[in-house]
This record gives sequence, structure tokens and C-alpha cells, in this order.
Amino acid sequence: MKINLEKVISYINELYQCGARGDGTHSRVAYSKEDIKGRETFMGYFMALGLQPRVDEAGNIIIRMEGKDSSLPAIVMGSHLDTVPDGGRYDGVLGCVGGLCVCETLLENGYQLSHPIEVIVFTDEEGFRFGNGLLGSSAICGVNPMISEDDIDMYGETRSEVMKAYGINVSAVHKAKWKKDSVHCFLELHIEQGASLYKKGTSIGIVSSIAGVSRYEVVIHGEANHSGSTVMSDRKDALVAAADFISQVPRIVAEYGNEFTVATVGTIKVSPNSVNVVPGMCTFNLEIRDQEDEIISLIESKLIEYLKSVCEGAVNSYDFRKISYHEPAPMSSWVKGEIESVVKDLEFDYEIVPSGAFHDSLVMTERFKTGMIFVPSVKGISHSRDEFTHEKDIEKGCQVLLNTVLEIDKKIIN
Ligand code: GLV
Ligand code: MN
Ligand code: MN
Repeated sequence: MKINLEKVISYINELYQCGARGDGTHSRVAYSKEDIKGRETFMGYFMALGLQPRVDEAGNIIIRMEGKDSSLPAIVMGSHLDTVPDGGRYDGVLGCVGGLCVCETLLENGYQLSHPIEVIVFTDEEGFRFGNGLLGSSAICGVNPMISEDDIDMYGETRSEVMKAYGINVSAVHKAKWKKDSVHCFLELHIEQGASLYKKGTSIGIVSSIAGVSRYEVVIHGEANHSGSTVMSDRKDALVAAADFISQVPRIVAEYGNEFTVATVGTIKVSPNSVNVVPGMCTFNLEIRDQEDEIISLIESKLIEYLKSVCEGAVNSYDFRKISYHEPAPMSSWVKGEIESVVKDLEFDYEIVPSGAFHDSLVMTERFKTGMIFVPSVKGISHSRDEFTHEKDIEKGCQVLLNTVLEIDKKIIN
């Protein structure tokens, strides 16, 4: 059975339009009207195949295709449709479309698996608006998503308002949890988002493990004052303190981390944000990632130590609050082995690679047998409008996904 590349590409391009803007950018951030449009478009593809999607208490979209034995656990595939602002065409979309393409190919060939298939679109993987993503997968796995009705997003709206408008009741999110024995395995096809496959010219990556990620909100409290009449020695400038701290993040990572350790400050807000006022308050998000838990903790403690030294005497105080944490996670060795034997049978070149980006698989692997298939990102660029993956690699990735499903269907585990 061969997947239909033309259809896969047309789905990807059509979903891209649900978020494409006249200025050449593309954004489908979680809970936006573009996100809703993308979800509806995606559900429409399944309805055209005669499959009815359902939406669970966490907003995850789930489509089930029955197998010969509906009492067997499901083979689950999927990813996310939300993007970062000005994001790319493939991140998340490929895994959702990959699941769709597997269902469509099986239906077109009149082939029914023994196991049921479920395709899932997870809610708010990226975490752009509230800072802590992986919401839908956390709910499915019964992992605390660290959310509260009163969380405030970057536009000043509360989580309860935002999610209610999207059809989610924050207090009911935990009800989306799945039973452990309801899943045969979970498979996520994704672009690599790094450059290791691209640099080697390899088409397929089999993910060994996903880096852990810890996110924080840091607030520096200085003193707002007149920029013309406050002499330099009298200032408590929150932005200057923040700038000093941020500029040293790379040094601290280089000193205490390893080749996989990364730390980023990706947002910043200055208050009152006026050209003639010494900044009174500065708020930013910090993120630390690594393949080892201990390294994340070490970098966290070194950064707090440095923040403390920067703030002492220079400003009034600071707050350092963890807003989400996911420990590094290995993929299932059984699923990895199944993918590897499929790739070998297909005679595709492949590498075993760690993932620096996180994915819903990071959470899913805590509860279900999980594996990820990567395809190369040209020049390793992602979370950018320049994200690109060649069609020949997309075709191979989808084919590996389909063949893995067919192989795994033959296995009864647990
Ligand atoms: C998700 O794409 C992440 O790694 O931030
Ligand atoms: Mn992403
Ligand atoms: Mn992604």
C-alpha cells in the first residue's frame, strides 16, 4: 500500500491557509479564530471519509476508525495544529495529516486493521498564549497541566474566558484522561526542527528521547521614575537588571551545560513601557531544556544565583516562578524497534536522533508506548516562516508511518 503524496501536500497547503496573512506571515496560535478554522477544516477531511470526529473535555479532536476487533486497544497517531506566531507550515500539521493519510490509504484499499485506529489533534501544544503548552496531551495522560482559571494570557485575558470561548471548561479538563490499556501505542510523525538529519542528508529520524523542558516567569520590580530628572545613581531600572541577567544566560549554559543544554528568554514586557519613564517593572519568560534532569536543575540554580546578584541593590525585588516542567523522556524501545525494522525493509536511510524540541510524545511516553518518526527540516529551521521540508522526505515519513501501523497491528502486546 502506498500513501498518496499529492493529497498529503494539498492538505498541508490548505491548512496553511487557515492562518496565512497578507503580509506573508502565518499564525494559528491556540484558541484563535485561525486555530478554530484549522480544526474545522481538519475535521471536515474525516467527515468526507465518513468518520465522525469528537472533541473531548480538553478540546482534543479525536477520530476513531474501528478495526476488526473493537475490544483491542487503539493504535493512536497525531500531533498538534496550533502554531507559534509567524510559524511554519509543517510543525505539528505533518503528524495530524500523517494520521489522516494512513486512514485514507487504508480506506481506499479496503483494508481493515485488527486494532482500532485513533487520530488525535492535541490542544495547545505550543503554549504561546499562557506560556505552558502540552495541554491536551497532559489531560489525556492525567498529568497536571499546571493551569488555573485565573491564568492571564499575553493579551490580558483570563484562561477561563479564553478556553470557554473555545468550548473548554477549565475545571473539566482532567476528565479527558484515557485508561492506560486503551492504547496499543502512540506514533507521532514530525519534522525534526533541528539540523542533524539535514546535515547528514538522511531522510528519516527515529527519536531516541525528548529533552525535558522547564519554563519560568521572572518579574523584576524596580522603580518607575522620570527619565529626565532621575540621575543615573538614583535609578532602580528593572529593564537594565533584566538585560544584565539575560545577557549572561548563554555564558551560564556554556559553563554548566553540555552540547544539548539550551536556555532562552523569548518574551519580555516592560512597564510602563514609555520612552520617558525609567522602567519600573520587567517581566519575561525563561526556558531551560536538556536531555538530563540534573542539568536542568543545575542551570536553574545557577541562573537564580546570578539573578539574585544582579538584583541586589540595583532594584527592589524579583519573583522567579516555575510555570511548567516536563522531565526528559525516552521513547519506547519496542516502538523504536518496530519503526527501525520498517525503515530497513523500505531501504530508507535513517538515524537515531534525540529531540531538542518537545512534542506531545514527551507526555504520552509517560503513560503509553510511544515512538516518533522525524523527517528533515531544511537548514534545521523551524518555528519560522522559513520552515521547509522536501516532498520526497514527507512521502517517506508518511510511508514509514503507514507501514509501522501495519506492522504494529500484527502484534498483540501487554
Ligand atoms: C514545541 O514546538 C517546542 O519545542 O517548543
Ligand atoms: Mn512547535
Ligand atoms: Mn510541533
